[in-house]
Amino acid sequence: MVPDRPAAARLDVVCGIIGYVGGQPAQSVVLDGLRRLEYRGYDSAGIAVLDGSGALLVRRKAGRLENLEKQLGTDLHEGSCGIGHTRWATHGGPTDRNAHPHVDCTGRVAVIHNGIIENFAMLRTELEAAGHELASETDTEVVAHLIEDRIGAGDDLATAMRTVCRRLDGAFTLLAVRADTPDVVVGARRNSPLVVGIGDGETFLASDVAAFIAHTRDAVELGQDQVVEVRRDGYTVTDFAGLPVDGKSFRISWDLAAAEKGGHPYFMLKEIEEQPAAVEDTLRGHLANGRIVLDEERIDEQVLRDIDKVFVVACGTAYHSGMIAKYAIEHWARIPVEVEMASEFRYRDPVLDRATLVVAISQSGETMDTLQAIRHAREQKATVLAVCNTNGAQIPRESDAVLYTRSGPEIGVAATKTFLSQVAASYLLGLGLAQARGTKYEDEVVREFDALATMPALIAEVLATVEPVRELAREIARSKAVLFLGRHLGYPVALEGALKLKELAYMHAEGFPAGELKHGPIALVEEGLPVVVVMPSPKGRRTLHGKVLSNIQEIRARGARTIVVAEEGDTDVRPYANHLIEVPATPTLFQPLVATVPLQVLAAEIALARGYDVDKPRNLAKSVTVE
Ligand code: M6R
Repeated sequence: MVPDRPAAARLDVVCGIIGYVGGQPAQSVVLDGLRRLEYRGYDSAGIAVLDGSGALLVRRKAGRLENLEKQLGTDLHEGSCGIGHTRWATHGGPTDRNAHPHVDCTGRVAVIHNGIIENFAMLRTELEAAGHELASETDTEVVAHLIEDRIGAGDDLATAMRTVCRRLDGAFTLLAVRADTPDVVVGARRNSPLVVGIGDGETFLASDVAAFIAHTRDAVELGQDQVVEVRRDGYTVTDFAGLPVDGKSFRISWDLAAAEKGGHPYFMLKEIEEQPAAVEDTLRGHLANGRIVLDEERIDEQVLRDIDKVFVVACGTAYHSGMIAKYAIEHWARIPVEVEMASEFRYRDPVLDRATLVVAISQSGETMDTLQAIRHAREQKATVLAVCNTNGAQIPRESDAVLYTRSGPEIGVAATKTFLSQVAASYLLGLGLAQARGTKYEDEVVREFDALATMPALIAEVLATVEPVRELAREIARSKAVLFLGRHLGYPVALEGALKLKELAYMHAEGFPAGELKHGPIALVEEGLPVVVVMPSPKGRRTLHGKVLSNIQEIRARGARTIVVAEEGDTDVRPYANHLIEVPATPTLFQPLVATVPLQVLAAEIALARGYDVDKPRNLAKSVTVE
């Protein structure tokens, strides 16, 4: 099949949005919600607040939320209905003018948006020809003017939104308010997330439950192509044609404390500390009566028995966990596994059929590259299983089964605890497949699970002994580049260590398979270059250990400063390590769960030593809902 053509338009944003109507001052509820959503984008922020007298106050500012707050100063608006937005821009630069909300020509309708309106150029031309004046370069603004036209034609806000959405191509979550109906917020969604929060006499809309978790844990998930009208006393959901539909209610399983820093200066540092619990929670309950139980398994066991190939699709850190999944699934379940960057998958027309299992790993469950990869897989009749940290997100919704990682909210843009949970979930999946296909005896599966269940304690041990890594970080913070080497399961760990350093410390960092070194990368080694080496265990595969030891000697001979992550008791490596980071011994397959942790700490501490905000690295956003 010929792959879909990539979308032509790239006027896109990946943003956090919140809407509120209730008894509290909307401005403070919205700003508070934006603070919790800022990890989704922090190029600009804005709010619109309505009061009963028919006034619509709009304020927006380039830069972080604090810039908007400074601008607002004591300018507290009394309205109890409002919307707010925090933006990650790719086109239509991060300026005051392009910040959301956008208003129509009358200044009485305000709109915020997450996603892409692909046909905005055509709509903009049409609007300008009809006399509308558009003030920004964004795709979003067309929606405000299209709604203006529909209101002019007699529609109420929800009807106008439905009519407008039917004209839009692309992915979007939209929220709109109108000065004439100051107790209503209308939302719409296609491909981008939107949840309703149900409070006592107050209702919320947001791209993420973190925005309203301080007020309620009762939520409703909206489906594809739906419009919702929220009022103080409730909400109404319809499809784009106006037919009533039911939202799916759920109770949020974590609380406000989980979304706060808990005494840590940065979320990321807290999330690194939370890793033992995240892995433990991800494993909890998955062994019952001597059998592996996967979460929402909507796949018949016979299908799992019949599959002859697995593809893992994912992006960034999730891709690295997919590489580890390959080792586990092939080792235990004896099925060939290919791991592929989701953004590449559908464009090379992969060979997929009913006997293919596609595993999509995504913390957010929103990543558009991964979503499009599974859509392609399903069109080709493959079975899709999602590994996801976000209940009810689009990727699990569109999959045949879900295995949830139970890491709780991850606010730091760099994935840490969700990576370890994805790795743990990958092991569960490997064991589940081995069980279904009979490639392991039941007692072997139980033994492996029991060994896996000891890992949270070992991760905690690493965290308790990580202080020297902080000192080391301060020493190498001025280096220009760092190389990371690993072999076998150490290779994805090396890649993840390098990615963390790139995204947090803005340093050149590359991960290589240690065996590839002599085929080119060794040319990069020069006097004083820090090289992190993830050593395989000296037990078992001794030859591999010896080979990586030789690699260390090769780079030392060329002046490298070696930082070695090795198993406790690996005495052979000691003479060759300028800095030795010892981690507890584990079964070979589980080594990434302990070896990754010091590399996360190293990257965070180097970034802090260089004066950067580790929660909000430049140019990044937590969820990438555009291709
Ligand atoms: O939400 P997802 O797991 O699908 O996100 C995938 C990547 O965008 C994500 O892992 C990204 O690489 C992180 N910034 C890594 O720290």
